[in-house]
Amino acid sequence: MQILKKEHAEMNAVHSPLERLSVMADVDMRAVNALILEYMQSDVPLIPKLAQYLIAAGGKRIRPLMTLASGQLFEADMSKVHYLAAAVEFIHTATLLHDDVVDESEERRGQKAANLIFGNQASVLVGDFLFSKSFQMMVESGSLDVLRILSEASAIIAKGEVLQLSTTNDLETTLDDYMKVIESKTAALFSAACEVAPVLAGAPEDQIRAMYDYGKNLGIAFQITDDALDYSANQEKLGKAIGDDFREGKMTAPVIFAIQEANKEERIFWKRTLENKVQSEGDFKTALEIISKHKALDQAMDLAQDYAEKAKNSLAPVRPCETKNILSELADFTISRET
Ligand code: IPE
Ligand code: IPE
Ligand code: MG
Ligand code: MG
Repeated sequence: MQILKKEHAEMNAVHSPLERLSVMADVDMRAVNALILEYMQSDVPLIPKLAQYLIAAGGKRIRPLMTLASGQLFEADMSKVHYLAAAVEFIHTATLLHDDVVDESEERRGQKAANLIFGNQASVLVGDFLFSKSFQMMVESGSLDVLRILSEASAIIAKGEVLQLSTTNDLETTLDDYMKVIESKTAALFSAACEVAPVLAGAPEDQIRAMYDYGKNLGIAFQITDDALDYSANQEKLGKAIGDDFREGKMTAPVIFAIQEANKEERIFWKRTLENKVQSEGDFKTALEIISKHKALDQAMDLAQDYAEKAKNSLAPVRPCETKNILSELADFTISRET
């Protein structure tokens, strides 16, 4: 027992909560990976070729790990939870394929984005294929409730991406508008990923609610952090290009906070670069300087921190256990991440 405790302590010190979740769910994750491989097969070779290109590049697998962890926590039928975790990762993968086309992104998971290698058309169509496959996997759970949750999440993600499209290049976008976008495009999948296994296990309503709230708040913190990283990250560590959001006129937390405090000259700068899409070399550097002057990244990260705290507090009704501890630490990890 003593030795076990020591091992625990050492593992906590060395590994991030994400790594600890991976260790805890190692066997389950293997089953999920097998399902992912199985469901991306097709007699049309371009489909597995493109899907494999993105999937083999890895990714953090944070969403399926949350599904597996909550499955273990609520003692759900793990053979069914594997399908749900794979479905969640497929939805995520499909949205990334679509998102990189829409955002004209050039880098994803440390390599050239799929749209750059295979073209926009193939990316959109294979994204559709993965979306459809995710529904076939959900059906395997045999639960209409789960199907309802995940299909609703898919619709909300799509809605969020469209809403974001309408706020892009619009300087009048408020923090409230931004929150609506990220609740939809990101937090909806996180909440669903955390909710489905307890629903499947028939957990009490307050526990299901706790997991839903945890996922939603963590998802919000995750996206605000991602948007801050777009202005501050080490590109190599992040595995995707920084400055993309600025280049495209995305109205994310760092610019919204900076615009709130802009003087006349700065407002003219934001109007030219973000709204009128007239950008030249050096503008990103200027944007960074203005953002830094108004401590807009700090403000964004304070907001992310608030949501990470909310995520942790949401777990209050869940019984004390190691999984709960890791989930709680995952909230802090989400906002301190560099990848
Ligand atoms: C990227 O998600 C898209 C956002 C919601 C910001 P992840 O950061 O989870 O991407 P991978 O799966 O680890 O590459
Ligand atoms: C990712 O959003 C797609 C969804 C959340 C649906 P972003 O465009 O903000 O993320 P990155 O920066 O491309 O990963
Ligand atoms: Mg993008
Ligand atoms: Mg981003």
